[in-house]
Amino acid sequence: MSWPSIDRLKSWGGWRRNGHPRRQIYLQMDLTSTCGLRCRHCFRTVIKLPRYTMTQAQIRILGKEVFPWVNRLALSETGEILGLPILDEALSTASEAGIPFVRIQTNGVQLDEKVGKVLLDNGLSALGISVDAASAQTYESIRRGGSFEEVIQNIRSFVQLRNRHPSPKTSIALNFVLCTPNAEETLDFLLLAKELGVDSVAFSHLMIESEEMRKWSLIYDPATANSLHADIRRRSYELRIPIALPPDLPSGIRMHTPDKMPDLGFWGYCEAAHDNWMYMMFNGDCFPCLNLQGSGPIGNVFNQPFAEIWNGLFNQSFRRTARNDGFARGCDHCKAFISQAVAGDEKGYLSNRLTSMSTASLGIEDKVALSSAGAR
Ligand SMILES: C[S@@+](CC[C@H](N)C(=O)[O-])C[C@H]1O[C@@H](n2cnc3c(N)ncnc32)[C@H](O)[C@@H]1O
Ligand code: SF4
Repeated sequence: MSWPSIDRLKSWGGWRRNGHPRRQIYLQMDLTSTCGLRCRHCFRTVIKLPRYTMTQAQIRILGKEVFPWVNRLALSETGEILGLPILDEALSTASEAGIPFVRIQTNGVQLDEKVGKVLLDNGLSALGISVDAASAQTYESIRRGGSFEEVIQNIRSFVQLRNRHPSPKTSIALNFVLCTPNAEETLDFLLLAKELGVDSVAFSHLMIESEEMRKWSLIYDPATANSLHADIRRRSYELRIPIALPPDLPSGIRMHTPDKMPDLGFWGYCEAAHDNWMYMMFNGDCFPCLNLQGSGPIGNVFNQPFAEIWNGLFNQSFRRTARNDGFARGCDHCKAFISQAVAGDEKGYLSNRLTSMSTASLGIEDKVALSSAGAR
């Protein structure tokens, strides 16, 4: 008798946990390409996306074809979804499909009472709200187009609404991208988070999207960055507010040399492969990871069965090689999961436009297929 493979055991584990034999995927997706803000640090300052939002009919397809595979769902990776008319439909479809964990990341601008009720009534598991500052001046210089007072009031009201809800299962986290324009406000930010009554704060380092952004990054001065990390840890402990914080930086950063980019591939821990990630763009195109868009889509959920995409040769061989050999083909460096071992590699903080140029070669404006039904 031969032993079952690890993949098989994992899928049995998924079956036992979630009542569905195929429910094993962490789907990270976008319902829309659009956003009303123009944040200074966002990739939108360097890439122009076509305006596109999924339709109700497409969401129904996801409910039937894709969501039964999904164990965890992140509904908004690169766009802003709280103002979308399809928000309720998307959340209720995910809930009816039995997805045990659904998360939304938002700028909080449209988090009014009506939207808050939609989130809570659909049993949203986690809401992340990007704030990035503890003062109106800094907030409004980074999150251009947003009002600090309004967003803070929205958060305050949503926390109260959540606390009064009959089944208050939504955890609320604030997000803060560490960079020079806001570094001095981190400790006040923890105090603000505590005062608002949110459950945690997630810090991350800036993903450098353009040459101009290099000067806002903290990674080039590891001693100052690590001292800030230490202060954040201390204040989080004093205030009893949980945090997520990137690993400390080693004393020397390994700088990326453009002319030394080897054949595209990353030797290291690939979270996407180990944790069964899939990224789905707003037009239904799928990628083994958000960072692999430069290699082109491995299929489109609106044109073919999801099983065909997931079990396809490219997806499965990518995952096998990454898990078994520690080599993620097509990836310039993991950016989603920076472990202590790779925290000192500049490539982890550089968008692939600045390393492999793979996203630039994607030519996203031209290649995204627009259907007249979904285009806005
Ligand atoms: C692209 S936004 C999309 C979701 C939503 N619009 C928001 O702002 O939260 C997702 C997250 O990425 C963060 N982000 C944007 N640009 C970034 C950068 N250059 N480096 C690191 N994080 C960035 C945002 O602050 C936000 O927390
Ligand atoms: S709100 Fe989010 S998606 Fe919109 S510009 Fe800011 S970071 Fe980018």
